[in-house]
Amino acid sequence: MREVIDAAGFERKYRENIDPWDYATSPFEVFKRRALLRACGSGPFGRALELACGTGVTSRALAPRCLRLVATDASPTAIAEARRHAGPWPGLRHRHGLLPRDFPPGPFDLIVASEILYYLGRRDLALLVARMDRALAPGGRIVLLHHVVDFDDAATRPRDAQRLAVMALRRRMRVVFRLDTGRFEVVSLVARSCPNWRRERFLNVEKALRPRRSFLEEATLCHRFQMSL
Ligand SMILES: C[S@@+](CC[C@H](N)C(=O)[O-])C[C@H]1O[C@@H](n2cnc3c(N)ncnc32)[C@H](O)[C@@H]1O
Repeated sequence: MREVIDAAGFERKYRENIDPWDYATSPFEVFKRRALLRACGSGPFGRALELACGTGVTSRALAPRCLRLVATDASPTAIAEARRHAGPWPGLRHRHGLLPRDFPPGPFDLIVASEILYYLGRRDLALLVARMDRALAPGGRIVLLHHVVDFDDAATRPRDAQRLAVMALRRRMRVVFRLDTGRFEVVSLVARSCPNWRRERFLNVEKALRPRRSFLEEATLCHRFQMSL
């Protein structure tokens, strides 16, 4: 039976296993993180925000590109683990908070939302996207990464969650980077007035990677893409 996972469910998951998705070492996760970082660009960013940071593996990769990085998650166990392994980044701060309610005060030059939108119902999802939009500094960038294949414990259908967010943000923003692997999609948007968007590469490998592949084939592709991303 379909059972949606909420913040309490994630907390239970982290208590049972602090790295439930094998973030640090799984080739797929490494590939996904690399795609996310590519979509963020090299920066440097003044103030950045990572929503739903989990145990902080991505935060540690983002931190060198940011003067300040606020990383938030609803799981106290994940935040404690992220703090324990924060590394040598004085500008990196972790905060415990439930989205969309506890949205940190902006403005931010970069906002990263990876694998969070589909865990919210449509109202909360829309509210969170509106808060991201409002908290963005002029010329700022929003990066969204989400799975696009259906799975059981999502509150909103994965592809819909990403599409709704991109549609809402595109009213004021322009897509400067898009990678759709058929399994996840990462999109980077900047304000339409931002002068730098033209210089960026627009990537869409959706067609090249379809039809969907076995995990082994995908891992091989991931490996290949690590070279080119
Ligand atoms: C699948 S993990 C993704 C972690 C990380 N963003 C990534 O892409 O690797 C989903 C994360 O969202 C967090 N989360 C779920 N619902 C949340 C909410 N309402 N507010 C804040 N964090 C939430 C969970 O605690 C979990 O760490």
